Amino acid sequence: MGGTVGSIDEVQQLLSGQNYVCGRALATVTFLSLRLGKPLFLEGEPGTGKTEIAKAIAAALGRRLIRLQCYEGLDAASAVYEWNFAEQMIAIRTAEAVGFEGAGADRTALKDELFSPEYLIERPLLQAMRPQVEGPPVLLIDELDRTDEPFEAFLLEALSDFQVTIPELGTIRAEAPPIVVITSNRTREVHDALKRRCLYHWVDYPSFDRELDILHARAPEAAETLSREIVAFVQKLRAQDLFKKPGVAETIDWAKCLLALDVIDLSPQVIADTIGALLKYQDDIQRIEGSEAKRLLDEVRAELAPA
Ligand SMILES: Nc1ncnc2c1ncn2[C@@H]1O[C@H](COP(=O)(O)OP(=O)(O)OP(=O)(O)O)[C@@H](O)[C@H]1O
Ligand SMILES: [Mg+2]
Repeated sequence: MGGTVGSIDEVQQLLSGQNYVCGRALATVTFLSLRLGKPLFLEGEPGTGKTEIAKAIAAALGRRLIRLQCYEGLDAASAVYEWNFAEQMIAIRTAEAVGFEGAGADRTALKDELFSPEYLIERPLLQAMRPQVEGPPVLLIDELDRTDEPFEAFLLEALSDFQVTIPELGTIRAEAPPIVVITSNRTREVHDALKRRCLYHWVDYPSFDRELDILHARAPEAAETLSREIVAFVQKLRAQDLFKKPGVAETIDWAKCLLALDVIDLSPQVIADTIGALLKYQDDIQRIEGSEAKRLLDEVRAELAPA
């Protein structure tokens, strides 16, 4: 894989071609992850582009994206493969109906048949080990912090040798390892053993300039003055004591709402009417509504005014 991307600059250009704005630090770990074939481990605030970068890498390199969405209770079976129990039952019933007498040879044949690839349901980890015409796929293991430690230990093993063993079928090994991106929102600490196998990067909220770049890429219809006001206001909001701060996704959503309403300039009224695009908790909304919104907007205006 290392052959496809030659430099950090090229990573930035490739991602920018997918409207993904990538700072130097993130571009560097991404480049190294591709070059060294090590998983990229992204931890950070919600809505800051962790999941999106995996999609952007896949699209930029023309690879298939395979996503393993983690959740509480996710186990190896649903991450790797399952036997199609319903189909197996039907096959057994059919065999019975056509007069399956239990003769030894038939029984063995049926059993082999039931545990053949035809009855195998491939889940993301197994899919990611399969060769793809376009080249190794991008395997996105999203929100790893939502699973539990036993699953993490299992994953550690799967990622270290890129092979899975199915007792009835044997071992399946990836000819070329997939490009792995792991994300976490850090609702709990992911184990060191797993982190050690990866290249780590903390994805923070973007600076004003970078968020403006992202808005240009994702909502190019917005006029420059409005875009600057939007970003400055959201950045101000993040500095407030909120239960849930708005992410970049919220900035983009808000811009689209304002565009749909033909807003050309922020005002306390417009902010009050559309605040639900930015803040999703009533306590936060109450805190910002009214005079507080006006105060933040005044600060934004003062900062953006040409000196
Ligand atoms: N650097 C960026 N360049 C372009 N768009 C971005 C960037 N960061 C975030 N976005 C936008 O924000 C949206 C949300 O990003 P994403 O879903 O990747 O966040 P996340 O970090 O995975 O959040 P969560 O932790 O909630 O899953 C994306 O769909 C994209 O539109
Ligand atoms: Mg995500």
